[in-house]
Amino acid sequence: MRKPPAAQRITQLREQIRYHNYRYHILDDPEISDAEYDSLMRELRELEAQHPELVTPDSPTQTVGALGDTFTPVNHLVPMLSLDNTFNLEELQEFERKLNRLLALDEATPQEYLCELKIDGLGVNLYYQQGYLQWAATRGNGVTGEIITRNLLTIPGIPTQLGPPAPPHLEIRGEVYLSWEEFARINQLQESKGKPPFKNPRNAAAGSLRQKDPAVTAERSLRAFFYTIGLSEGLEVKSQQELLNWFDAQGFPTNPYRQRVQGMEAAYGYCQSWIQRREKLDFAVDGAVIKVNSFTLQEELGFVSSAPRWAIAFKFPAAEVATRVLDIVVQVGRTGALTPVAVLEPRLLEGTVVSRATLHNRDHVERLGVRIGDRVLIHKAGGIIPEVIKVLNEERTGRERSFPFPDTCPVCGTPAVQAPEEVAVRCPNPDCPGKVAVRIRHFVSRRAMNIEGLGEKHIEQLLDQELIRDPADLYQLTLEQLVPLDRFGEKSAQNLLQQITASKQRPLNQLLFALGIQHVGDRTALLLARHFGSLERLCQVSLEELEQVPEVGPVVAKSVYEALHDPEMADLIQRLQAAGVGTTAASSPSQDQPLAGLSFVITGTLARPRREVKAQLETLGARVIDSVSAQTDFLIAGSNPGSKLAKAQALGVKIVDEGQLEQVLAGKPPA
Ligand code: IVH
Repeated sequence: MRKPPAAQRITQLREQIRYHNYRYHILDDPEISDAEYDSLMRELRELEAQHPELVTPDSPTQTVGALGDTFTPVNHLVPMLSLDNTFNLEELQEFERKLNRLLALDEATPQEYLCELKIDGLGVNLYYQQGYLQWAATRGNGVTGEIITRNLLTIPGIPTQLGPPAPPHLEIRGEVYLSWEEFARINQLQESKGKPPFKNPRNAAAGSLRQKDPAVTAERSLRAFFYTIGLSEGLEVKSQQELLNWFDAQGFPTNPYRQRVQGMEAAYGYCQSWIQRREKLDFAVDGAVIKVNSFTLQEELGFVSSAPRWAIAFKFPAAEVATRVLDIVVQVGRTGALTPVAVLEPRLLEGTVVSRATLHNRDHVERLGVRIGDRVLIHKAGGIIPEVIKVLNEERTGRERSFPFPDTCPVCGTPAVQAPEEVAVRCPNPDCPGKVAVRIRHFVSRRAMNIEGLGEKHIEQLLDQELIRDPADLYQLTLEQLVPLDRFGEKSAQNLLQQITASKQRPLNQLLFALGIQHVGDRTALLLARHFGSLERLCQVSLEELEQVPEVGPVVAKSVYEALHDPEMADLIQRLQAAGVGTTAASSPSQDQPLAGLSFVITGTLARPRREVKAQLETLGARVIDSVSAQTDFLIAGSNPGSKLAKAQALGVKIVDEGQLEQVLAGKPPA
């Protein structure tokens, strides 16, 4: 049957619009003017208004927000599901029996599976229409994700156009990850800037994918493996194996360690073979995925609410390795807690070299019965913190030395104390130098006063030189004091002082968290800040009033009350106030932020990372925005500035070149 002319024209318009979306948003190389594009869209909207029965959810008119803008929400055309987990052979066999029941086969029939590694990264979904990439989005909640096309396209190999014959609709799904090596590199960089390291490659990958500026993402070598499809129309593949081969042919990166097997025992063999071998991989893997290979069978099996019935994940047990305890040392924490730490013969564990592992506290050391020289098993608690879990008693030689937990603080020698309701043994000396360094590190950390450029070594140096004794002293530092120190130059000293000044405007909850009161994490700090509104008020309230705060229990209330009535803390608070640190919830950006109220756009390549320039401008009170308008105050133009420069010139926006940039970053807006 021939389609009516309106339907034909609608199809034609949609195809044209999709193609021009692709030229504009993906290739950044439009073929037609905005006016021509608008007229195509207008015609389509009018036709759809006259023929509402022809409107389809995938029509370009149905997309809300701009497809090219990072973080625009977008609905996956088919939801992104998750997988059921199993941990042993019995559970895998149960899965196979169930498959066979559903397929009305004998329960013992071996199925054909494709076994793959389960990559520990972030799920992404790429939508191609008529072969043209339209958008790429994060998994989000499985139904709605966020557009990250430009960031995703920093990954080598991802085609923006599929080779013919292009299927009309295709969602391609995979996992974005960071190699262990790149993860280590990024963390070194973070630490050199005095920023907290990422906990694992997954978090680092998430941070890199969710960047406003694709240039920042491009500096982190993200990678991806593709392994499945969502909506698919017109793709002629019959099995998971064929699909992965088709991905390879199209240029999508796929994981090479896949294997087709017959029956669940063979699939289990695949899983077992990777438990140890995964340590040698350059990326994090948290299990294997076993998929029914045939697409016909997959279709027959279908889905339950959140997972397919044709696939199952096998989770690897948390990795453990054996090593030797070379020594046991005791560290002093911010609150004075004495934490025993095992110094180990270095071992590779889940991608990082581990040479120290926590022994938590005195009770834990006693329970383990660990001695210096013991062979022990270690693992990563929560996948992150190395921990000694077991002593290999049978490997003792008799030469091991027992470890008497010290009665005094290893840093200042003050007799240690243990509160009746606590496991932690603490150094009660408020001036213990061990505590002071940790306390200052905590004070400047990102979630606290967020003072960048003051790493561990800088703090040590300032303490050694007796330039600071506690956090309040930071606000008295001068350029003359800093510049002669070996860890500072003129520029870094200036930057640090600006950071310190900017920190005076942090919200009250961050200040409360920064004070390092025992039991006051950032959540409690927020509750207290909201409830009392100012530090002054909080210092005056009774213990009973503190206990009334929702979610604040008696232990926390007592800890806050006692900390704030400690003369040492009172003195610290008074000196922070005197230095001009904002202590009310309403502390708003002050007028002494030299760039307050000014807006900047950055374009072109700058001598230093754009994100650094942006952060510093913001620290000085400026707003940094993406696109130039008549409201923009300044355009910072590096080399190869592109169309933003022309637009700024046309609108009469003031241009700042690289030469003037340093002045601006020192807090002097150009005249
Ligand atoms: S297939 C219907 N294959 O694991 C879901 N998923 O726990 C089909 N993942 O959301 C997913 N590696 O983000 C599949 N080789 C692989 C995978 C994999 C990692 C992730 C994926 C999924 C999660 C499920």
